[in-house]
Amino acid sequence: MPKKILVLNGPNLNMLGSREPSVYGHKTLADVNAAIQARAAELGVEADCRQSNSEGELVTWIQQARGPGPEAADAIIINAGAYSHTSVAILDALRAAELPVYEVHLSNIYQRESFRHHSYISAAAVAVICGLGPDGYLYALTAAAKAAG
Ligand code: DQA
Repeated sequence: MPKKILVLNGPNLNMLGSREPSVYGHKTLADVNAAIQARAAELGVEADCRQSNSEGELVTWIQQARGPGPEAADAIIINAGAYSHTSVAILDALRAAELPVYEVHLSNIYQRESFRHHSYISAAAVAVICGLGPDGYLYALTAAAKAAG
């Protein structure tokens, strides 16, 4: 069985490509997910890419990733969008999942408004990648696959 990496994107990331392209670039979420799938195939892992604008849905998916069951995963990559800066619920779910967590942000959150400088997710993350655009997911996937290997 290939290792399964759950790749979660949070609110407004479905708008990639048209949303503030000067900050987030011109690639759509479909483009980003296609690049993730290509890298996953090279690495011999399965990437399960999902996006939700709902905090509760993200929490449910993280809970399911813990397993047991068909949704069980070996690692989680997450860009929780604005929930990164607000959501104790997602932090608690990530801690409860007891899985390696890789936090990704397309933009360099530390160069932006001060309210973006703190991420609740980081307290549960093995590593945080920010400012590398969509490549950040690929670096995270490479690290997650290596650790899960
Ligand atoms: C983001 C940064 C967050 O501050 C913002 O709310 C997002 C996207 C990023 O990928 O750079 O929605 O997580």
